[in-house]
Amino acid sequence: MNILLVQDQEKVRDRMSFWIQKAYSCTVIEAESIEKAREILTNRDPLIDLIIYDFQKDPIKNFRRLRSSSGVIPCIVCLSGISTEMKAEEKSFIRLIDRAKLTEEIQNTMKDFLSKGAIPGESADEREYFAIRTRILLSVCPLKGDIYIRLSAQKFVKLFREGDDFNEADLVKYTLKKGVNYLFIKRNQTDEFISKYLADLQALTSKENLSTEEVSRSAESVHETVQELGKRLGFNEGVQQLARTQIAMTMKAMGKSPALGDVLKKLEQSRGEYVASHSLMTGFLACAIASYMDWKSEATFFKLNLAAFLHDITLDNQKLAACETIQDLSKEPFKEEEMEAFRNHPQNAADIARRFSEVPPDVDTIIAQHHERPDGTGFPRRLSGNYIAPLASIFIVAHDLARYSRLRPNEKIDVKEFIKQGALKYKSSQFKKVLAVLEANMSDMGMPEPGQPAA
Ligand SMILES: [Fe+2]
Ligand SMILES: [Fe+2]
Repeated sequence: MNILLVQDQEKVRDRMSFWIQKAYSCTVIEAESIEKAREILTNRDPLIDLIIYDFQKDPIKNFRRLRSSSGVIPCIVCLSGISTEMKAEEKSFIRLIDRAKLTEEIQNTMKDFLSKGAIPGESADEREYFAIRTRILLSVCPLKGDIYIRLSAQKFVKLFREGDDFNEADLVKYTLKKGVNYLFIKRNQTDEFISKYLADLQALTSKENLSTEEVSRSAESVHETVQELGKRLGFNEGVQQLARTQIAMTMKAMGKSPALGDVLKKLEQSRGEYVASHSLMTGFLACAIASYMDWKSEATFFKLNLAAFLHDITLDNQKLAACETIQDLSKEPFKEEEMEAFRNHPQNAADIARRFSEVPPDVDTIIAQHHERPDGTGFPRRLSGNYIAPLASIFIVAHDLARYSRLRPNEKIDVKEFIKQGALKYKSSQFKKVLAVLEANMSDMGMPEPGQPAA
């Protein structure tokens, strides 16, 4: 277990760190400032299981700064006197304790977190395994390590030995016949896995005439893999490269002038896991709209596709990711942690984008604003129309259209109806322009097939 200790006084920090390591035989990562703590949390390297916050300077103000990066990681907040203002921050995974009884209260809270499964016990090796889409194994096997199947939350059994091949017959056997869509590898195999998977993706990207099916199947697998690896390993260079290669493939298939008609046809075909296919389609639609607005540079398409790839990357609960507003959270019995993850996901995903190397500056803004609404009813910042960036407004409408069509599976997508509904909620001039462009190009069908760029 990795514990992040956020403490600003060196001597106290040393003593606490020593005591925690001894008491729990865990790794303590020390942060003497909020900036340092946020950096560790955002990089997810190492992955933090628990935060012990014992910051003495402006504890409330600084705790709120830390919260924007800590997501739903369980947190023990040590305070000298608990004010009502601070009491409001308490949640099932945020516990406030009295510094006067520091060790005793930390022990009790840890025990409680352990009993609820909020933090891993010492024997939990679940975190050692990585889920991989079973079909990806076709392109990366043989691996220098074993492949496991998951039997229960904590039980993994070896299915293939190191060096075994994984062929089409295995794929059919496990996915179609047994419904096993994910198999597992161990943490120390991830480097080999990433480099083989990357080589496979690069080969696919350089192929002539990529079919829509190939691109969307690949986009879905890469999205899930990046999500899983990012969660476990952090978004390191190899993981970032997987994302960038997939985006290069998507852009190649999209061509220079993605047409709305084509995009909508693709949308009707793509019905995979929500987050992955919704992310792909949001990128496609945003580029189609941008190109109609004469923003068709490669740089713009890259920004929109990268923003689309990352915008919901921290949400792995498909139902949660399908929510649009904070009010939507009441439609399902979500846990408090999940609701918190949803409320923070624009900011958390923007933080991840900022850590990507070679990332154009607007990508994090688009992501941070993707749930804002021009009438100020969005979240997290309730920005009004004037404060929403132009590219973000294109993205918001594209995101809404992708979601609108996904909620109506097996139906022809009625863009006219979408524009009618959009006119009621998107009243700022910038958004009106986006809707007008959509309306003007609605009948623009019969453009080139994907993989055959427009002239
Ligand atoms: Fe989304
Ligand atoms: Fe979102």
